[in-house]
Amino acid sequence: MKKILAIIGSPRKLGNCEIMAKEISNQLSIPHELNLLRLQDFKILPCRGCYQCLFTKEHCVLDDDLNIVLKAIVAADAYIVSAPTYFLGINASVKTFLDRGISFYAHIENLWSKPAVGVAIAGIEGKEGYSRLIIQSFLKMIFADDKNTKVVYGALPGEIFLNKENKQAAGELASALFGSRVEKKGPCCPQCGGDTFRFLDNNNVRCMLCSNSGIITLPSGSPTFEITKSHHDFFSSKEDALKHKEWLLGMKSRFIEHKKALKEITHPYLKQGTWIKP
Ligand SMILES: Cc1cc2nc3c(=O)[nH]c(=O)nc-3n(C[C@H](O)[C@H](O)[C@H](O)COP(=O)(O)O)c2cc1C
Repeated sequence: MKKILAIIGSPRKLGNCEIMAKEISNQLSIPHELNLLRLQDFKILPCRGCYQCLFTKEHCVLDDDLNIVLKAIVAADAYIVSAPTYFLGINASVKTFLDRGISFYAHIENLWSKPAVGVAIAGIEGKEGYSRLIIQSFLKMIFADDKNTKVVYGALPGEIFLNKENKQAAGELASALFGSRVEKKGPCCPQCGGDTFRFLDNNNVRCMLCSNSGIITLPSGSPTFEITKSHHDFFSSKEDALKHKEWLLGMKSRFIEHKKALKEITHPYLKQGTWIKP
């Protein structure tokens, strides 16, 4: 029996995110056990950027619930991630958890390529901002295989299913979870399938999901992206993820090597300005 973990990024009980995840589970044709986890129920402190999790027995030094959540993610066979748009982004619980992602590198072998689907819920049609992109990034950062990620609209708790098409959307995500990945219909990054871009000078473009760059052309009126993989990829393959982990581990020796020069850069700024404290 497959163990499915629904990661809910909304504080609202029986809100749209929760019922969407449960509806996807309802429409799954394979027998499964559904476990749910509301990120707001857990004490997840902000990352301190100390990198100790890479070196201290691969364990974050902060005393909170990170490992409970991480353990549930490692134990699951597949994920449904459902989170609400807050101010054109995603609810902060998702990003706070994601910021602790260096701790995830200790588990690459157990996490790599588990199937996942994501839903970003927004109250106003077209006002989802970059919330779906963050859910896609979330799935990449937990090394999951993003089968399909959708935006669904509804503001009041339950409102998403006033629109019957959203039940159909849940069905499509359910079919994708253990099926083949849904290929993007419109223009997308040839490296990762992402469809959010930053437009740079001289027809250069960067994919905001995999951070690879290239050129945009309009050969027959519709955009085509020639994007190549950079030499420092995070997650295009398991090898890339492991290589990135090695690069992170190498930071310690790079820091020791350049410690004196770095201190000379930072020290003159030490006494500048007056800090406002709580
Ligand atoms: C603080 C806050 C900010 C929000 N910002 C947006 C927004 O920028 N765009 C939007 O479309 N909806 C926005 N919404 C609406 C929610 O995304 C929407 O109500 C969603 O259904 C909430 O999901 P839930 O029922 O699972 O909590 C916001 C809601 C809250 C509470």
